[in-house]
Amino acid sequence: MKIAKKIAVALLVVLVVMQFIRPDKNQTDNPDYVAVFEAETSPSEEVKKILKQSCYDCHSDHTEYPWYNNIAPVSYWLADHIDHGKGHLDFSDWQNYDAEKKDHKLEEIVEEVKEGEMPLKEYTWTHSEARLTKEQREMITTWAQAARARYQSAD
Ligand code: HEC
Repeated sequence: MKIAKKIAVALLVVLVVMQFIRPDKNQTDNPDYVAVFEAETSPSEEVKKILKQSCYDCHSDHTEYPWYNNIAPVSYWLADHIDHGKGHLDFSDWQNYDAEKKDHKLEEIVEEVKEGEMPLKEYTWTHSEARLTKEQREMITTWAQAARARYQSAD
């Protein structure tokens, strides 16, 4: 066999084997996976909807996966994004953050959303419904800014 053909066959085998190794899904059975966060920061129904549609896939215990998550290595790539996102900010872990950290995360939300850094571009390419309009960005920043007050007076 020519060397190029050998390499092609080897790659194909690797790709096929990869399909059997699936990363664990980030999906909880608990329907109240952001209950503490919502109870404390009182987002309006509209803000709740935006957060769910644009943020929770990477920043909570529950991801709505697209069909292509069934294909490796895309599944590895998405799992890595979610791990990374949750490592920075996890709305399902809000109860374990102290007041200072909560205040700081809300401050970061204002900054990231204002600058259009979040949701990630890689995400909005395929999730056009998650793209934020100017009005939605303002709703998020106004809510997050107001929610900070609670944690600032805590100390
Ligand atoms: C596709 C996954 C994804 C989506 C969707 C997403 N994020 Fe992120 N987010 C990340 C990743 C990954 C990081 C960490 C690396 C970085 O900053 O790029 C991050 C970082 C952040 C940070 C910085 C936290 C810190 O303390 O460093 C904030 C705040 C944030 N995201 C808020 C949001 C908000 C608000 C939304 C929705 C409007 C959102 N993200 C949507 C993946 C995502």
